[in-house]
Amino acid sequence: MTTEPLIALQHVTRRYDSGPPALDDVSLTVRTGEAVAILGPSGSGKSTLLNLVAGLDKPTEGTVTVGGTRVDTLSEAASARYRRARVGLVFQFFNLLDDLTVFDNVVLPAQLAGNARGETTRRATELLTALGIDRHARAYPGRLSGGERQRVAVARSLMNRPALLLADEPTGALDTASGAEVRRLLTGLHADGQTIVLVTHDRTLAAECATRTIEVVDGRIATDTAVSAATR
Ligand SMILES: Nc1ncnc2c1ncn2[C@@H]1O[C@H](COP(=O)(O)OP(=O)(O)OP(=O)(O)O)[C@@H](O)[C@H]1O
Ligand SMILES: [Mg+2]
Repeated sequence: MTTEPLIALQHVTRRYDSGPPALDDVSLTVRTGEAVAILGPSGSGKSTLLNLVAGLDKPTEGTVTVGGTRVDTLSEAASARYRRARVGLVFQFFNLLDDLTVFDNVVLPAQLAGNARGETTRRATELLTALGIDRHARAYPGRLSGGERQRVAVARSLMNRPALLLADEPTGALDTASGAEVRRLLTGLHADGQTIVLVTHDRTLAAECATRTIEVVDGRIATDTAVSAATR
C-alpha cells in the first residue's frame, strides 16, 4: 500500500531581494512517522525550509503540501488555522509568553482553537505530567530553567495533537544536561509515533532521534540519508 506523504515540497525556491536564493529548487517528501533531522551550515536555508512547511513563509516558486493542503497558497488567517490544527512548533528560545503561567501557555493553542475547557484542562494536565513539569503549572516561565522552559514549549506544541512537530534548534540554547533531557523527550515522542522534522546543529540529537538526516548546503539538499535503527 502506498500512502500519500505527509509533507511534499516540489521545486521550492525562496529568493530574497539580494544574494543567492535561500532555498534553491528543493523537492522533498516526508512520510507520517518519520523523524527527520535537517543539518547544514549557518545560512544554508534550514530555517527557511522549516518556515515554509509551517506556512510562516511562502516560496517564490514551487509548492508546499502538508496533509493534502497546499500550504503555500493559504491566506494569513487560514495559515494560522493550519498551524493551530496540524503543526506543533518548537523554537530555540522557547517563545513562551512570560506573563502567562506555564499552564496558561500550554492551554493557549486549545483556547485559540475554541476547544472545550474540560478537555483542554485534562489534556494540559496530562502533558505537563508526562513531561515532568506539572509541579510548575502555576509558575511563570521566567522562574524555570532552560530545559524546563523547553519542555513547556513542547507541551504547548503538542496540545492540539499535531500531525507534525517542527522544531528549529530545540537544544540550541540549552546546557548539556537540559539538552540531553530535551533529546530524550523528542526521541520518546517519535517512538510513540509523532512525525518530527527538526533543524539542528546538535549531531547527538540527530543521531539519537532521527530516522533520516538531510543536509542542506547553499539552499540545496546535499545529502538525504536514512539512519538504520541498528546504528541509533
Ligand atoms: N527575511 C530575510 N531577508 C533576507 N534574507 C534572508 C531572510 N531570512 C533569511 N535570509 C537569508 O536566507 C539564507 C538562509 O537563511 P536561514 O535562516 O534559512 O539559514 P539557517 O540554515 O537556518 O542558518 P542558521 O543555522 O544560522 O540558523 C541566509 O543567507 C539568510 O541571510
Ligand atoms: Mg536557522
